Amino acid sequence: LKAFVGITGASGTIYGLRIAQELLKRGLNVYLSVSKAGKIVAQEELGIKNSNFKAELLGRFFNPVQQPIYLEPDALNSPPASGSAGIDFCFIAPCSVSTLSHIACGTGQNLIHRAADVALKEGKKLVLLVRETPLSIIHLENMLKAAKAGALILPAAPAFYHHPKTIDDLVDFLVGKCLDVVGLANDLFPRYLK
Ligand SMILES: Cc1cc2nc3c(=O)[nH]c(=O)nc-3n(C[C@H](O)[C@H](O)[C@H](O)COP(=O)(O)O)c2cc1C
Repeated sequence: LKAFVGITGASGTIYGLRIAQELLKRGLNVYLSVSKAGKIVAQEELGIKNSNFKAELLGRFFNPVQQPIYLEPDALNSPPASGSAGIDFCFIAPCSVSTLSHIACGTGQNLIHRAADVALKEGKKLVLLVRETPLSIIHLENMLKAAKAGALILPAAPAFYHHPKTIDDLVDFLVGKCLDVVGLANDLFPRYLK
């Protein structure tokens, strides 16, 4: 199985990185791309410097023998840009409302928008972990539009009924939900009802 993970400039870079790690653990081939704004947020939140972005990201977050295929967001000639590559799952996490808008309107400007557009046209699973608050009517309408086109919308809103103790527990709740909606079994958070 193949997956694409797009990290955009919404808060929560760690969500996309954790999703990519979990997919790799399950033996999927993972393409990973970070938008221009995503790199700014990654620097802010995780201290990943823009000057050596790819090496630092791959070195700090991925095992040397389980690396994602890292693609720059302008790599529009790479496999995730084409339906013929047969990518099974597309995760945009975190998904900014700007990227949400491009996906909802089909106005792809970069590889992340295009990979999402391809997932929708090919009838593949597209997960949007949208993060913004508060939400304007424009954001809400774009979520509805994307959902009607087949996207699975997960607001980046962790729960507390599993008694999270750490930030990792909060992150893993959402990572687990993202895997759940595409049918990938996981034990990333305790289930309320079994
Ligand atoms: C530190 C920081 C945090 C941000 N957080 C969010 C956010 O949570 N949600 C959002 O939609 N945009 C957020 N933005 C704004 C987006 O980065 C901006 O709209 C950008 O154009 C998105 O581009 P992209 O979708 O191509 O990554 C944030 C920007 C910065 C610098």
